[in-house]
Order: sequence, then structure tokens, then C-alpha cells
Amino acid sequence: MDKNAVVSALDRAVSETVSEEFEYITNGKSVSIGQWLRNNSRNDIFQSLRSLTPPNYSNPMVSVVYAAMYQLQHINMTYSAIKELLVSKNADKATITNSPRLQVIDLGAGCLAMQFGLTLAVADSLEQGHQNIAVHVDSMDPNLTMCTLGEKIWLNFLRIVNQDNSEPSSTLSSLHRACSMVTHRLHKNIQSIDTLDDSEIWISAIHAFYQVFEKQIRTDLWTNSRCHATTRSDR
Ligand SMILES: C[S@@+](CC[C@H](N)C(=O)[O-])C[C@H]1O[C@@H](n2cnc3c(N)ncnc32)[C@H](O)[C@@H]1O
Repeated sequence: MDKNAVVSALDRAVSETVSEEFEYITNGKSVSIGQWLRNNSRNDIFQSLRSLTPPNYSNPMVSVVYAAMYQLQHINMTYSAIKELLVSKNADKATITNSPRLQVIDLGAGCLAMQFGLTLAVADSLEQGHQNIAVHVDSMDPNLTMCTLGEKIWLNFLRIVNQDNSEPSSTLSSLHRACSMVTHRLHKNIQSIDTLDDSEIWISAIHAFYQVFEKQIRTDLWTNSRCHATTRSDR
């Protein structure tokens, strides 16, 4: 895959969605998100995120600021974590799973960084010649404001990748295929997630271990004893 084209598609999807949402929230006031971020770097949202206490994620401004500041970085983080996991698990590091399919249960999914990272890893795998890849992501987050914003970024990303793929000079054809191969569903709680038969299951909880959520997330993590694969959080 052409790395620059992938980064540019992600960058456009995040920045266009964030700008649209920001304009909607501020009623089109004549200030750019960049300007707003510079003017408000001392406010509660930033203080809270920097001190590792959870901000009010159901506030639309919090989710927009979060996506503007962290979404690209977190997509990169999930993608790197998946690559590391595949290296530690397989001799053939391009194989996503040796089971008929992979189910990823993403706790504290936020703006769906894991779904993006996984799709990039599937695209890599397609490029290495693995064709039959079935991947499903169950994204769980009690806060639908974050996930809804993630869905909007995802839809913009699909539009940008489709557009690129329709051009003769496209370098994103594997990513285009990967986007249609990764199925996904949003959940407000873990009880609505069914584990799929014949699948390898991973659980992730990326940047979701704030102290106040920790107990609940630990309980959710161990709810399903079939899940053997990794969790990762460096907070
Ligand atoms: C810092 S964001 C991380 C989002 C995403 N994983 C990422 O890496 O970009 C933390 C997320 O955890 C969610 N959360 C809060 N309480 C939770 C709980 N009890 N179980 C799972 N997620 C929770 C929040 O709504 C928020 O979207």
C-alpha cells in the first residue's frame, strides 16, 4: 500500500468530519477548530485528558476535540499493536488468523480507532496474498457520542477510499477491499455482544483504563473465558 495515500485518506476523513461537527456545534461561528484548540488549551477538556481523569465524553465538544487530538495517533497505535501481536503469534506475520474468522471485541471503543487499525492490517494481509479473511469488530462503549462521531469519520473514510479507487492511478485498491471485508457493530454494553462460533477472539481496551472505569472494564474483560488474546493499554 502507498503509505502516503493511506495517511492522506485518514487525515482527510478525520479533519473533514471534525470540521463539519465543530461547525455544527458552534453554529458556524467564524472560528476554525485550530484556532479554538489554541484558545482553549487551558480549559477543562484538556486538563482532564492530560491528568488522565475522564472528561465528559457525552459532551459533543469533548468528542470532537478528542478526535482532533488523538484519533490519528490512536489508529496508528492500534495498527502497530496488531502488527506486534501478529509477529508474536505467527511465523507468517501477515496472517490475521488461522481460524475461519476473527472477532475483535473492543471495549471503550471511542471513535473506533481499533476498527480503522484492523482494516489497515487486513489490507496488508490482502497485499501479502491472503484472500479469505473474515473479520468482525464489536465496538463497545457506553458513550454513543464518541462512537457516532467514529461512524461519521468511518463513512467519510469509505467515501474517500472509494473515490480514490475509482481512479486509474489508485494505490488504495487493497484498502478498498479491506473496508468491505471488516464487518462491525456498535454496542452500549458487553451483554449485547455474542461470541461468534469458529472464531479466534481478541479483546482490546485501548486507552480505556481510567481509574474510575477500571473495575467495570476488568469485569468485562474476564466475562468471556474463551477470549485468549491480548489487551493493551498504556494508560
Ligand atoms: C480515552 S477514550 C479511548 C477511545 C479509543 N479506545 C481510542 O483509543 O481512541 C476512553 C473511552 O472509554 C469509554 N468508557 C467509559 N466508561 C467505560 C466502561 N465502563 N467500559 C468501557 N468503556 C468505557 C469512554 O466513553 C471513552 O469513549
